[in-house]
Amino acid sequence: MNRQRLIEPSLLAADPGRLAEQMALAERGGAGMWHFDVMDGHFVPNLSFGPHICAGLHRYTKLPIDVHLMVDNPSRIIDPFLAAGAASLVLHVEVHDKEPLSQMLREIRAAGAVPAVALNPRTPPEAAAQYLPLVDRVLVMAVEPGYGGQELLPDSYERVRAVRALANRVRPNLQIQIDGGVTKQNAPSILEAGADILIAGSAVFDAPDIEARCREFAEILCSGGASS
Ligand code: DX5
Ligand code: ZN
Repeated sequence: MNRQRLIEPSLLAADPGRLAEQMALAERGGAGMWHFDVMDGHFVPNLSFGPHICAGLHRYTKLPIDVHLMVDNPSRIIDPFLAAGAASLVLHVEVHDKEPLSQMLREIRAAGAVPAVALNPRTPPEAAAQYLPLVDRVLVMAVEPGYGGQELLPDSYERVRAVRALANRVRPNLQIQIDGGVTKQNAPSILEAGADILIAGSAVFDAPDIEARCREFAEILCSGGASS
């Protein structure tokens, strides 16, 4: 197993008025990548950030920005996010778009960014199978998308295990991300189920010491939950 393990703080949970300060703390604590949640009020009920904010952060940070597109018709905003410096783009398998998902994933790869797919909690893990040859990561949603601060759904471990088993047949180096309700308490079991990247919003930014909390996650990533 040589898949890189990372803690990926979700900026949705950061204090917008202290974003730069909180990002610096998380980076000092060992954050490996930023999770940037994009919501359109259609695919999910909430609204969040767009390409303009991504471009601003890209100028400010050296860490890669991982853009999670919770939007319908993602094909319309792939190019703006690539231009805004997104290092990777995560597309939901459930979205409606006139352009096929596989085509969009190829375009992301051709532009030099990392393509990934995401699965909602009620989507069977097998729905990712057809995209595995085209992506480097699969993001498993452990909560219904749209809001931070929810509790991880208990069947998420099984879902991670199922995606890992699918990936091991065709793409052993494929990374699995888990998104929603991740805490330092459940992180070891998530890693043991086969996840590589822990996306954590409130567990990082609501912590009394953001830097120390990232360090705790980084230690769990080094020591806990041998994945296969
Ligand atoms: C939810 C987002 C998540 C969210 C995670 O729709 O995709 O990335 O910010 O936040 P926590 O870790 O608080 O569940
Ligand atoms: Zn997300």
